[in-house]
Amino acid sequence: MCGIVGYTGPRPVAATLFHGLRRLEYRGYDSAGLGIQEDGGIRVIKRRGNLDHLEPLLGDLPGEGGTGIAHTRWATHGVPSTENAHPHLDCRGRIAVVHNGIIENYQELERGLTSRGHRFRSRTDTEVLVHLVEENYRGDLLEAVRAAMPKIRGTYAAVFLSADEPGVLVGARKDSPLLLGLGEGENFLASATLAFLDFTRRAVSLENGDLVRVTDDDWVILDINGGSVERKVFEVPFDATAVQKGGYSDFMLKEIHEQPQAWMDTLRGRMSPGNRLRIEELEEDRFDLREINRIIFVSCGTSYHASLLGRYVMEGWMDIPVEVDISSEFYYRAPKLDPRCLVVAVSQSGETADTMSAVRWAKRCGAPTLAVVNVVGSMMARESDGVLYTHAGPEIGVAATKTFLAQVAAVYLLGLYLGQERGLLEPEFVRHTLRELEDLTGRIEEVLGDTDTVERCADKYCRCEDFLFLGRNINYPLAMEAALKLKEISYIHAEGYPAGEMKHGPIALLHPGFPVVALIPRDSVYEKMKGNVEEVRARQAPVIAVATQGDAEIRSCCEEVIYVPEVKPQYYPVVMAPALQLFAYHVAKMRGCNVDQPRNLAKTVTVE
Ligand code: G6P
Repeated sequence: MCGIVGYTGPRPVAATLFHGLRRLEYRGYDSAGLGIQEDGGIRVIKRRGNLDHLEPLLGDLPGEGGTGIAHTRWATHGVPSTENAHPHLDCRGRIAVVHNGIIENYQELERGLTSRGHRFRSRTDTEVLVHLVEENYRGDLLEAVRAAMPKIRGTYAAVFLSADEPGVLVGARKDSPLLLGLGEGENFLASATLAFLDFTRRAVSLENGDLVRVTDDDWVILDINGGSVERKVFEVPFDATAVQKGGYSDFMLKEIHEQPQAWMDTLRGRMSPGNRLRIEELEEDRFDLREINRIIFVSCGTSYHASLLGRYVMEGWMDIPVEVDISSEFYYRAPKLDPRCLVVAVSQSGETADTMSAVRWAKRCGAPTLAVVNVVGSMMARESDGVLYTHAGPEIGVAATKTFLAQVAAVYLLGLYLGQERGLLEPEFVRHTLRELEDLTGRIEEVLGDTDTVERCADKYCRCEDFLFLGRNINYPLAMEAALKLKEISYIHAEGYPAGEMKHGPIALLHPGFPVVALIPRDSVYEKMKGNVEEVRARQAPVIAVATQGDAEIRSCCEEVIYVPEVKPQYYPVVMAPALQLFAYHVAKMRGCNVDQPRNLAKTVTVE
């Protein structure tokens, strides 16, 4: 959360920074600002609100090349306001900073700095950074940052600019992402590669404790002791067209429609010539899968729901218990772990602070860790013992859609692979199942190609203020995900509940204005689900069923039926998810909401 960009080079600096901010707006959008070297000083413009509020102020900024920093904010300390927007300046206006993270000891530092004559202009934790650097500045920005950073407790990705060092950017990183983008005669620093993807695909991921000094034709990375550090240059595995709307009105809609591709790309190329399922990433012998006797998933938000789904799949294919923890709770539970317990972190971004903490706890306990992540080279991918990538491509919409389905593909793969490696699944079964999974691509396309009923349901119920989503068995995590999607983007109160549990509480809420979405495909719990639907109907609440194509019987007991193609019972979440995402999307659009940037949410949450 919070997006930062730094640029030095010949392109129009303000426009280039602003372009980077647009690409990072999914990370936060309550205020934004730019700081640019100009006429021997630093010119700062900033504004409360999203980038549309900042854009009109860009007109009088220099149109030529140069050096500057920029920020789009998701407030943690200090309300969203123009004063609290970044960049922040030192007392003399000669040094500027943009920051993503949290400075935990800022009050203590601020007291010290104030007693030494520093005057603060904002109510943020960030401002202490620039005053500390000011205090240590003797004409060399890199040295001043190196002297200041050890005093900081907390997390940061920060980029500094000094009026006295034209063409120089200095970055520092600890527990928040910061990447270097390497161009020809120009360089970038940013929270994510998307900020510079239109200009270069060559990048370097900075590690914790790295400091970097960047000019238009050079860069050097040091550790906190001043020793030089080598980091690998990598190529971003997609280009700028992947982060454009491509004719869709919103990123979310585009990403919903990219699901057949995301699904297929995550499964693709996994069969070895010897007809065995291969996950090359897991074959590096960093842990022995045959030794594992327990698996714990850790994750947040949508990734948590994909993990819950994973448990249902894996327990059917394996002989070991699978647990699922919300990352932020895992730590408090302080579970006893040992080298035979595999901790699987599921995360789109690979940067979520709570999940990162869970991974670190696992490592401290000596448990092997596996990251299922979408962002190549992200912190979780680097710090875990193994990584299984979801190949969904970049996701810009804050509410996860295609990365959810790609995570579901990954957990199916993981379950099959573990079953195979532990000698529990016959090769023929594995091969056949993989083919079935691949064939689901066509079923997902069918769902996306026929959205009339979904739109009609959205139109009919979009003014309701409460929704209950019910599912059983493997469709229960999907009910939770469907409810999360609806509340995230439409601000409607929604709950996802195990259908059997409804009678123990939520049933008291039901009334004719409280729709219930029942996930009721033709599977082993169909009759039980039908019983629950009858209980809902007896309370006069309207029922929208999501059911198997051809199930005429269900029509008689529901107001509306959204049909999905018939698939094997364990695959229904895969075909139901796109329908439910589209339902949330259309409801939100009909209510006039910004589906790509819902209020108060950030795509990547790098604070605990
Ligand atoms: C935020 C996002 C959610 C996401 C969650 C976990 O809350 O708004 O869409 O599911 O973080 O993110 P991760 O990157 O770890 O999957």
